[in-house]
Amino acid sequence: MCGIVGYLGKKNTKEILLSGLKELEYRGYDSAGIAVLQNGNFSNYKAVGKLVNLEKKTKNFITNGFAIGIGHTRWATHGKPTELNAHPHIGENSYVVHNGIIENYVEIKKDLKNDGVNFLSQTDTEVIVHLFEKNLKSEKSAFGAFKKTISKLDGAYAILLVTKSENDTIFYAKHGSPMLFGVNAENEKYFASSDTPLIGQCSHVNYFEDGDYGYVSASEIVIFDKNNIKKDAVLSALSENKLSAQKDGFRFFMEKEIYEQGEVISDTLLGRITENEVIFDEIPKDLFDGIKELKLCACGTSYHSALSASYLFERYSKIKTSVEIASEFRYREPIMSKDTLFVVISQSGETADTLETLKMAKNAGLKTLVICNVDNSSMVRLADATILTRAGIEKGVASTKAFATQITVFWMLTLYIAKIKKSLSNKKISRQISLLREVPSVVKVTNEMHEKIKRISKRYLHGHGFFFIGRDIFFPLALEGALKLKEISYLHAEGYPSGEMKHGPIALADPELFTIALLPEHLHFEKSKSNVEELSARDSTICAISAVEFEKADDFIQISKCKDYMLEFFEMMVVVQLLSLEISIRLGNDVDMPRNLAKSVTVE
Ligand code: F6R
Repeated sequence: MCGIVGYLGKKNTKEILLSGLKELEYRGYDSAGIAVLQNGNFSNYKAVGKLVNLEKKTKNFITNGFAIGIGHTRWATHGKPTELNAHPHIGENSYVVHNGIIENYVEIKKDLKNDGVNFLSQTDTEVIVHLFEKNLKSEKSAFGAFKKTISKLDGAYAILLVTKSENDTIFYAKHGSPMLFGVNAENEKYFASSDTPLIGQCSHVNYFEDGDYGYVSASEIVIFDKNNIKKDAVLSALSENKLSAQKDGFRFFMEKEIYEQGEVISDTLLGRITENEVIFDEIPKDLFDGIKELKLCACGTSYHSALSASYLFERYSKIKTSVEIASEFRYREPIMSKDTLFVVISQSGETADTLETLKMAKNAGLKTLVICNVDNSSMVRLADATILTRAGIEKGVASTKAFATQITVFWMLTLYIAKIKKSLSNKKISRQISLLREVPSVVKVTNEMHEKIKRISKRYLHGHGFFFIGRDIFFPLALEGALKLKEISYLHAEGYPSGEMKHGPIALADPELFTIALLPEHLHFEKSKSNVEELSARDSTICAISAVEFEKADDFIQISKCKDYMLEFFEMMVVVQLLSLEISIRLGNDVDMPRNLAKSVTVE
C-alpha cells in the first residue's frame, strides 16, 4: 500500500527520501516519486515499478545545503500504475503526496475543471494541489490556503504539501491514514507514514492524531488539532529495532495482517463498486463472451478461496463452476473445452503447480483469468486477464489477508457475472453490494473478541485432533481454519462438511477431540446445529462460533448479529485466524515462519 516520506534539512535530500521509501517497500507499491524544493526551484522525478527505476532516474541529482522534499510509493487505486498517476502531483507551483482516499474528489474536480484547471492524472489526489493553489489566490497565507483546502476534503488522508510560496516549509494533515513526524539533534525534520523510515535518522517522534494539521519549517513545528486548537508536539523516543517497527507493535506479522484486513478489503473494493454495479476496468469486456463454465484452480489457502467462490458463482451467477487442486489437475489428463474460463488464484503468482495449470489451459486454447496479489508475477504476465487483490505484501507464511481479499474479489466477480448473465435482478445486486461495503467493518478485530479468544485458546493445546466443521460455503472456511491451525500450531486438524461427520469421522469423538463448529445464523442453522449436537452427544469438546447462543457448546465465541451469511463468513474467518494464532503463540511456535513451510512454493 502507499507510503509517504518527507524531509527538511541539509543532507542530500534525494538520498534521505529514497532510503525512506525503501523502508516502506515491504508494504507493496507499483510506482514511486519524489519532489525536492531548493533555492526556489523544484526537481521532480517519478518512475513506474520498483524503486531501482527511480534511483536510475535520479542518479545525477544531488542537493547541497538546505532543501525540503517529499516522496511517495503508490499502490494504484484510482487510475492505473503510470508515471502520470504516480505522486507527487503538481499544481502550478506546488507538489502534494497523499495516502488514503478523497471521497468527494469527483465534485471537487468538476468545480476546478469549470474554473479552467487542467488535470494530468486520473487520481483523486491531484484535486488537493489544485484546490490549494486556487485557495492561495484568495487567502492571505499559504497556511490559510492549506487549512481551507483540507476543510473541503472528505475521506481518509495523510497529506504532505510543499509550495514555492513558502519554500522552507512542509504542510501536513492527517485524518484516518497514519503519519508521524520526527526530529534529531541536528535539527533535521522527517515525516513518514510509519516509523520504519525514521529509525536510525530520528531520536524522537510525534505520532499525529486524526484531525491534526499544520506545518513544519526549519525554525517551527506547528500543530493544530481537529478543533483548530494549537498544541505542542508530544515527542517520544523512537525504537531502534526496524523489524519490530514494521510490525507496528504487533507480536507477529500474521497478527498485524489479521488486524489489517479491514483496511486492505477497503482497498480491494476501491473504485470497483458503485451503488448497483461492480466495475472491473482491468478485464476485457468480452472475457465472458461464449463462456458456459468456470474452472478454478489453485493450491492451499487459495484453493479454499476458490472452493468458497464456487458456492457463490453457482448460487448467484448461475454458472457451472468446478474447482481443482493444481497439483492434481496437472497430472490427471483433464478434459478442457473452450467454453470454459480457466481461473487461477494465487497470492504470490509464482506457485509452480498453479502456474503449470495456467500454461496447460493456455495451450489448450482456453481463455484465462488470474486473481493475484502480486502485479507482474509470472501468472499475471501469462494470463489473458488479471484482477489484483490489493492485499499489500503478506509476510506471515500463514495466509490471512490474502484469503480475505480473494474472497472479496470473488464476491464482486460473482455480481459482475450475474449482471452480464442477468441471473440476479438489479435490486438483488444492489443489496449484495451494500453488504460488500460492510465487510471492512465486519472484519475489524475488537479487543473484547481478541481477549476472549486468547483466554479460550489455553484449553486447546493438546488433544488428539481438531475437526473444523461447516456447511455450504462454511465448509471451505472450515478447511481454511484447519489449515491455519495445523500450519502454525503443528496440531492435527481437519476441515469437514458438518453433514459428513456421521459417515466415519464421528468414530473419533471423545473429550480429547476438539470440534470447532461454524454455525451461521443465516445459512442452514438448524441442520448444522443438529450435526454439532451429534458430536456433543458423543462427548467431543465443542467450541461453537455463532451469533446465536448454543447451549451444548463447551466454549462459545459469539460473533455479532449480521444481516447475511456472507458477513458471518467474514467475521468467522477472523475468529478462526485468531484462534490459530493464539494457540500457536501459547505453544511457543514461530508464528510467522512455521517449520517446513515457505511463503512462495516455486517447486512442484
Ligand atoms: C497457507 C498458505 C499456502 C498457500 C499456497 C498457495 O497459509 O499460504 O497454502 O496458499 O502455497 O500459494 P499462492 O496463493 O501464492 O499460490
